[in-house]
Amino acid sequence: MTTASTTDQLTDAQAKSDPLHLIDVDHVRFYVGNAKQAAYFYASTFGFQVEEISDLTTGSREEASYLLTQGNIRLVLTTGLHKDHPAQRHVNLYGDGVKDVALTVFDAEKAYERAIANGGESAYEPRTIKDDKGTVTMAGVKTYGETVHSLISRTGDYALPNVKKGGLFMPGFRKFGTFALNELNKKNPCGLKFVDHCVGNVELGKMNYWVEWYENVLEFKLFKHFDDKDISTDYSALMSKVMASGNHLIKMPINEPAPGKKKSQIQEYLDWHHDTPGVQHLALRTDDELHSVNELRNRGVDFLEIPQSYYEIVWDRVNKTLQQHGHDSVKEDHEKIRDLGILVDADDEGYLLQLFTKPLQDRPTLFFEIISRRGSQSFGKGNFKALFQALELEQEKRGNL
Ligand code: FE2
Repeated sequence: MTTASTTDQLTDAQAKSDPLHLIDVDHVRFYVGNAKQAAYFYASTFGFQVEEISDLTTGSREEASYLLTQGNIRLVLTTGLHKDHPAQRHVNLYGDGVKDVALTVFDAEKAYERAIANGGESAYEPRTIKDDKGTVTMAGVKTYGETVHSLISRTGDYALPNVKKGGLFMPGFRKFGTFALNELNKKNPCGLKFVDHCVGNVELGKMNYWVEWYENVLEFKLFKHFDDKDISTDYSALMSKVMASGNHLIKMPINEPAPGKKKSQIQEYLDWHHDTPGVQHLALRTDDELHSVNELRNRGVDFLEIPQSYYEIVWDRVNKTLQQHGHDSVKEDHEKIRDLGILVDADDEGYLLQLFTKPLQDRPTLFFEIISRRGSQSFGKGNFKALFQALELEQEKRGNL
């Protein structure tokens, strides 16, 4: 046991007196058409453990939910059991996707009251569920589209450190029981650790509105980083600003469509998401990009295809930036990076490795990013231009430029 220093105690006290101080990403809730099948998909392709369930067998007569975990990532997959359940309507309009990015706080009721006083709109009022083991209090604030931020506080056996150790998620859940895929995943870990960032797509002209919303309502700050130079709006066809929680626990980039050299991927998302803003991707952090991408590829995860010509130009670009700022060059095996089709970007603080999956459902909406950071705190914007140039290089080889 270590004794907390005075500074730590002060920080802790200050944190507790700030109702919107975030402790963790509590969970990310997906609304899906068939939670049982979705659970199998995320377990087999991304290596999540199917830990707990709440359904008819636990007395839940309105919905079924599965808790999936990996590292400090908790996904809750929820489906309605009746046609009028909100999840059914959501799936009808948007397909499977993220409904709630839930954040752990010290006191959910106080955090909610503060967010509402800051101008937030209620998604649902504070409610506490409890049994003899502890309590879970939750309250919801509406963000872009129909997405919600639940604010959650926990006591007793349901405190987050206990949940992380495998304790029950909340009253009404039970352990999933023996499941062959869980054993397989334990033996073959994918190495995903936590939610690095969560990106929202909003309508044309609405980026700054939502930037201010995060500033005012949840008291986030604009996160200054390399991507701010905005060199590649032309290539990315999107405008983006990144909001960070006070302690940088989570970053929430906000995208809006922009005119570019091709149709904006943000507009495509909105076209297939009932013209409604929503979560575009969750970036899941790993310490070992090559291991994670290799394992995920073996499991059949469908990643964006990177043209070979990307690798003809990547090392010049990345190493130039790293040298300029006095950083070591990329230490991972360059050939393996190319063989696994991984993207690389660098900035004034270091570099990052990243790769995007194809959409996780039939609509071109939600996808995952697998990201590993070596100093860089940005989001890989240099890759938009690099990918564009790589495609041009391929065109040139075909004599079509
Ligand atoms: Fe990202």
